Amino acid sequence: MVIPSAAPLSVDLSGIRLDAQQGLARQLYQALRERILDGRLQRRTRLPASRDLANQLGISRNTVTRAFDQLYAEGYIEGRIGAGTYVAELSAATRPTPAPQAQPSDAPQSAALQLLQNHHLNPPLSGAPRAFRVGVPAFDLFPFETWARLSARFWRKPSLARLGYGDPAGDLQLRELIAAYLRNSRGLHCDPAQVVVTNGAQQAISLCAQLLVTPGARVAVENPGYRAAGHALAIGGAQLCGVAVDDEGLDTAALDRIEGCRLVYVTPSHQYPSGVTLSLARRLQLLEWAERTDGLIIEDDYDGEYRYSGTPLAPLAALDRQGRVLYVGTFCKITFPALRLGYLVLPPALAEAFARRRALDMRHSEIGTQAVMAEFIAAGHFQRHIRRMRTAARSRRDALLAGWPESVPGCAPLPVVEAGLHLCVRVNSLARERELISAAAGVGVEISALSSYWLPDSSTPEDQRAGLVLGFAAVPEAQIGEALQALRRAWQI
Ligand SMILES: Cc1ncc(COP(=O)(O)O)c(C=O)c1O
Repeated sequence: MVIPSAAPLSVDLSGIRLDAQQGLARQLYQALRERILDGRLQRRTRLPASRDLANQLGISRNTVTRAFDQLYAEGYIEGRIGAGTYVAELSAATRPTPAPQAQPSDAPQSAALQLLQNHHLNPPLSGAPRAFRVGVPAFDLFPFETWARLSARFWRKPSLARLGYGDPAGDLQLRELIAAYLRNSRGLHCDPAQVVVTNGAQQAISLCAQLLVTPGARVAVENPGYRAAGHALAIGGAQLCGVAVDDEGLDTAALDRIEGCRLVYVTPSHQYPSGVTLSLARRLQLLEWAERTDGLIIEDDYDGEYRYSGTPLAPLAALDRQGRVLYVGTFCKITFPALRLGYLVLPPALAEAFARRRALDMRHSEIGTQAVMAEFIAAGHFQRHIRRMRTAARSRRDALLAGWPESVPGCAPLPVVEAGLHLCVRVNSLARERELISAAAGVGVEISALSSYWLPDSSTPEDQRAGLVLGFAAVPEAQIGEALQALRRAWQI
């Protein structure tokens, strides 16, 4: 299919060729993106209405909308679909050819700022934890007394040597303890020099995006997946390529079909949000892909401490022999999210660059939290707390599984849950997903929509993206029971 050059569109889109044998939405997205980046479609150009473009191309309007959605999500276009869609203003850093001169009235804007304005970030749910909030552990059980004691001890007489500008990679004592912890708990052997302390896993992923992504580079992400990782990568300039997830995890064979892709973000120990564990065969295939393509893997082990049954598989970073894996870990799922403490374990060749980048961002993480965490680990409190948290999460999981209604119309049965802090259950249509979630919200129960974890241009039919994602660790068993009672009433079952 080719748009004839005389097509009566407000902008010249002649020459767009779509191969009916391939994904049409992706091809259209790529064609438009290319024209935006090389300046053929200038900033503020109004794009044709989706209906007109669909007619011109002889494709469905839905396909055009999917392509627009992706461009919109990545910040290339702005405005409301239906009320006018315009090419966004991208800075020279994103646009390889010189952008037109800014008008005097224009406020200067960086590409990242523009991308952020156009991103639909679901703000994390805040406030006191409620059933069934996703992504939060049983932090009501945190030993605040112990933490307060260790904290007071540190601040009463801090060593002055630790109060100046510290190592941007983080406090050495903490990095040594992290290395020892990963060796014992994950079989991951690393040198403290490979560890960079971050403000949580999110900052670790964001650093990877800043350092590894060049504008326009194709980066593979799980689809459905952790959207905040995708957003961080897109803000770094990535063109996100969703890869399907099945019951063995990420479909590693699909990576070879993404031309030029050299970076993948993956959650192997407990895929977010589906809950699947990446099989050993797929882990080896993924490493083989990275070795063959000179690629890198961001392994996000955000909730690896929570495994209830089955054999834990070695992290990719422990299997990696060629420095291909950047391992992301966090303390926020074992302590509490507001602690903002996590880390990266980097291939030796990359550690220095990451520390330097961190120095430019915020020098390093705040010393008090790092020092107290180091004491917390060294004195054995951390290991004890992990055991307590795992036991609590298992018991809260059991409360949800035992109390869930036998059958919820439109909902698949609950899955077996061997790991993590949440579960995911499929629903037979998007309409039913919305209905169940809004009825739950009406009685104060938080349930996340599986459909919100997909990339906008996913080829999976809409109804197959529907489901419920339920965090089971946020509140104690009694509150889980009350929430389930409320759900039965709201759903009339
Ligand atoms: C898959 C995944 N990775 C990373 C994070 C971020 O964790 P942190 O709070 O350490 O930034 C989350 C938070 O929910 C997550 O779900």
